[in-house]
Amino acid sequence: MKRHAVVLLGRGGYSDAPKVQLAGLVKRLECTITDNLILGAFVDQATPSLPQALDECAESGARRILVVPVYVPDDRNLGAWILKLIKRWMANHAGEDVHVSVSRPLGDHEAIAEAVVQIASDPVSGDHVSQVVGLSDNGEPGWSVIPPHKYHLLQCRGPRCTARGSGDTWDHLNGRLQDEGMLDKDVLVAQTGCLYPCNLGPVMVVYPEGVWYCGMDRSAADRVVDEHFGKGQVVSDYARTPAPQAQRMPDPSS
Ligand code: FES
Repeated sequence: MKRHAVVLLGRGGYSDAPKVQLAGLVKRLECTITDNLILGAFVDQATPSLPQALDECAESGARRILVVPVYVPDDRNLGAWILKLIKRWMANHAGEDVHVSVSRPLGDHEAIAEAVVQIASDPVSGDHVSQVVGLSDNGEPGWSVIPPHKYHLLQCRGPRCTARGSGDTWDHLNGRLQDEGMLDKDVLVAQTGCLYPCNLGPVMVVYPEGVWYCGMDRSAADRVVDEHFGKGQVVSDYARTPAPQAQRMPDPSS
């Protein structure tokens, strides 16, 4: 059993590239620090989330966990929120003798500045970009198409919804839409950054009705696919309407 763990914390994106790159860093570290459990996690836009990675460390027996943010530039607000997220996770694991620490932002390390200086000082480094005469300002013609659709679904993949499990929920929801033949036909899916009411996350919004679905999980996603997209009926157990006062998380069991 490995008593120490390192979690490399990255930022996700719309393609698999961040996952591939982070997996490469994890592998490099595994070769160097062989007596630690090494995991990757994402602040947003991808899974596993940081709480999921911390759970995995604790379940495997690690008692000292170092979280290493591996993204630049640093966002101080995001850094402060990550500390809060870890404190909440530790409160849920009180009595387990698990200690978590967070390293300094990557951009604060002199080695990063040195690496940039080294790369920029090499006049022949980088891929050559060849000139193409007559290339239009626009890309492929497909990027000028607004696809016909019945519903527009905005899925939040901001940091707080990611920490609350939006990645797994949206993967499940999009899989259901794919299986039902609705994805990108009846339902045009767009993944977004923070939509604002983070305490109600995971959050998604369905247009044209403008229904805000809150506290989404797999079973809620199944109901939205079957009832809202399938039959045109809003799933009121999870639906919220914009209002000036704070709203409560859905509790479908009540
Ligand atoms: S992160 Fe999803 S609403 Fe803020």
